Amino acid sequence: MTCRAKISPSILSADFLNLGRDIESIATADFLHFDVMDGHFVPNLTFGPAIMKQVRACTDLPIDAHLMVSNPDDVIDDYLKAGADYVTFHIEAARDAAEMIERIHAAGKGAGIAISPDTPAEAVEPYLSDLELVLVMTVYPGFGGQSFIEAMLPKIARVREMCDGLGVDPLIAVDGGIGKDTVARAAKAGADTFDAGSSVFGAADRAARIAELKQLAEEA
Ligand code: DX5
Ligand code: ZN
Repeated sequence: MTCRAKISPSILSADFLNLGRDIESIATADFLHFDVMDGHFVPNLTFGPAIMKQVRACTDLPIDAHLMVSNPDDVIDDYLKAGADYVTFHIEAARDAAEMIERIHAAGKGAGIAISPDTPAEAVEPYLSDLELVLVMTVYPGFGGQSFIEAMLPKIARVREMCDGLGVDPLIAVDGGIGKDTVARAAKAGADTFDAGSSVFGAADRAARIAELKQLAEEA
């Protein structure tokens, strides 16, 4: 890829008892990825707006909220108020995606749509011109530390192709199993934003890992 790669560490893999310290350790990243799971849309439960508010107060990084919840229409305002800079909801769960995008924009924030592995790229096509971010899930959402699904590479390429066709350039993010062995392939397929949990927080030197992932993506 030629343009600058963005690394967005997922604090799902952080040490929750030392969250402030772990957030400091990723200060050189481009975004902070905040995974909201509701125990319903996905079989796991994480954190909500109260924790986001505290995270917001301890970092200048833009917060990219990934809402893995069954009722995104009902909760996006809570995350906008708590300090999210990008709010990404799953198209599979949205009641009215267009209305949500409008609401996110009215708050002056970036709108993103995520697609799970079984959802085709075409599901985001009607919204592409209005989005700041498209998130192609490269694992089934719900847990950190899963293996990258190679079969998602053509979907990343398809999203990039649709964007080029429309002349739009939202961030194209990938999430799940992104690390030293996979980031280049995802970049080559067309992604420019890399959500990475275990690869970043599993490294002793997080800044070095962030730099390494960025370089691998940019050289791809
Ligand atoms: C998974 C989450 C991811 C997760 C990625 O459902 O959306 O953001 O933290 O974790 P890794 O990078 O470990 O696959
Ligand atoms: Zn995520």
